[in-house]
This record gives sequence, structure tokens and C-alpha cells, in this order.
Amino acid sequence: MSDFDLESWLRTRRAEIDALLAARLTAAAPAEDPGRLVEAMRYSLLAPGKRLRPLLVLAAAEAVGRASDEPLRLAAAAVELVHCYSLIHDDLPDMDDDDFRRGQPANHRVFGPATAILAGDALLTLAFAWLAEAGAAALAATGDPLVPQSTLRAIAALARGAGMSGMVRGQARDLAEPPPTSLQAVERLAAEKTGALFRAALEVGAAVAGAGPAQEKALVRFGTHYGVAFQHADDLVDGDHVTTQTEARQRLHALTQAALDAVSLFDKHAEPLRALARRLADG
Ligand code: IPE
Ligand code: IPE
Ligand code: MG
Ligand code: MG
Repeated sequence: MSDFDLESWLRTRRAEIDALLAARLTAAAPAEDPGRLVEAMRYSLLAPGKRLRPLLVLAAAEAVGRASDEPLRLAAAAVELVHCYSLIHDDLPDMDDDDFRRGQPANHRVFGPATAILAGDALLTLAFAWLAEAGAAALAATGDPLVPQSTLRAIAALARGAGMSGMVRGQARDLAEPPPTSLQAVERLAAEKTGALFRAALEVGAAVAGAGPAQEKALVRFGTHYGVAFQHADDLVDGDHVTTQTEARQRLHALTQAALDAVSLFDKHAEPLRALARRLADG
């Protein structure tokens, strides 16, 4: 067992991500705010979320040996923007019609569905601006000729994870099909609507950190298993599962173990990643 202190690691990085989100959103916003668009974006983005996806970007990059700096944090924050947009849209009356999110009234309950849709749209597009900006800043700071290529890889990974082959596909399936009745179908839906963005987080971290092919493959496998495990954990908390509790718990443990096995090639720099997986399994 290592003596790595996950709580302290999380506290520091969460505070950095929160500070960056607040500062950058303010800096990016035009002075005038017609229709309370920016206010609506800020309302959901700065509400207390766990920031798990950006933390996984940082943990993946750290596994490859890349220390956290502003461009890396900006790329990590981009994944949180996509996640936040997905939550705002997920709660809309024509989707899950939920009234509460992150301990406060849902965005559409405060700003109305039209502004909530636009706030989501603006967060999603801002994410890709931040990824591009992170690449430009890293290139300016280091002059590393590999930065443009790794930036393109990060942008492609986030687009893939968010879009029609990933999260949005899962949302479409969730709305269009009756609830899944087999474990296999539960996990397919989880892999799409939840897992794809977790996987993208790992891919963004790997790309920005300049991971080699074997390292990248390992991190992608970690993200794939972690994402489905996360949905099992979430369903267990919500009491929202078609499989038995015992089966969901078994799958949670098997998938977190598979995530840990996937990153066995890394040294102690992968301790944050490993600790995050263990923590998920422990509830
Ligand atoms: C909630 O995700 C939506 C799911 C994919 C289950 P989180 O539980 O990570 O939400 P926040 O970011 O902490 O609000
Ligand atoms: C949320 O899934 C997943 C996305 C927003 C992509 P759910 O609808 O199952 O999760 P909660 O219960 O609203 O957080
Ligand atoms: Mg939903
Ligand atoms: Mg929902």
C-alpha cells in the first residue's frame, strides 16, 4: 500500500480547477449579458460539483509524468464545461425534467428552458475554445513542436466522447428506448452516456501529457472501465438499478479492478489515478 494522500491531492487540485473556472469564465464573457446567458452559465458551472472529470485529466497527465500547469488545467477545465452543459440539458423539461441539480434548482427552473439550452450550447462551444487556447499557451511556453499534434488529439477525443458516438448517443438511447433489462444493456448505455466522457477525460490527459501509444492505450482502458463503474456506483446510491444490488456491487468491484490492472505499467506517478479508482470501489 502506498502512503499517497488522495484527500490532500484532491483538495489542492479541486481548488485550482474551481478558481480557474471562475476566473476564465469571467474573462471570456463579454461585458453585456443579454438574456442572462453568462449568468446562467456561471450559475451551473460554479455550483458545487465533484470536478471528477477534470481531476481525472490531471491524474492521467500525472501518470505520464506531466506536472500540473495552467495549460493542462485549462484543458482539464474544458472537460468540465462539456459535463456541465450535459447536466443542464439533461434536466430540461423535454429530457429528464428534473428540478434540482448540484444542490440548487436546475438551470431551466431559474432561467427558463430557452436560456438553459443556450447556456449549455455556450458551455459546449467554450470547451473547444479552451482546449485550443491550452494548446496555444503550451506551445508559447515550451516551443515543443509536438504540442500542435497533441492538442488536435485532445480536441478530437473530447468531440468523440461528447458527440454522436459517445455521450449524446447515450442520451438519445436513454430517451428513445425502454429502460435496459439486462446487465449487458445497462452497461452499454452507461458506457455511452457516462463512460464516453470519462474516457475522453483520460484521453485528453494522455494527449496533453504526450503519452506514448502503450501509455495512451492503458489510460483509455482505465477510463472505459472507470466510466461504467462510476454509473454502477451512481445507480447504487440512487437506488436506480435493474440489476440486483449484489450484481451492481460485483460489477463495480470487477470494473474498478480492471481499471487498476489497466494502469499497472505506470510507476508511482499513477497513484492519484489508482487512488481515485479505489475510492470509487469503496463508495
Ligand atoms: C452526474 O455526474 C451525472 C452522471 C453522469 C451520473 P457527477 O456525479 O459527476 O456530477 P457532479 O459533477 O458532481 O455534479
Ligand atoms: C446523466 O445521466 C448523464 C448525462 C448528463 C450525460 P442521468 O440522467 O442518468 O443522471 P442524473 O440522475 O440526472 O444525474
Ligand atoms: Mg438522463
Ligand atoms: Mg437525469
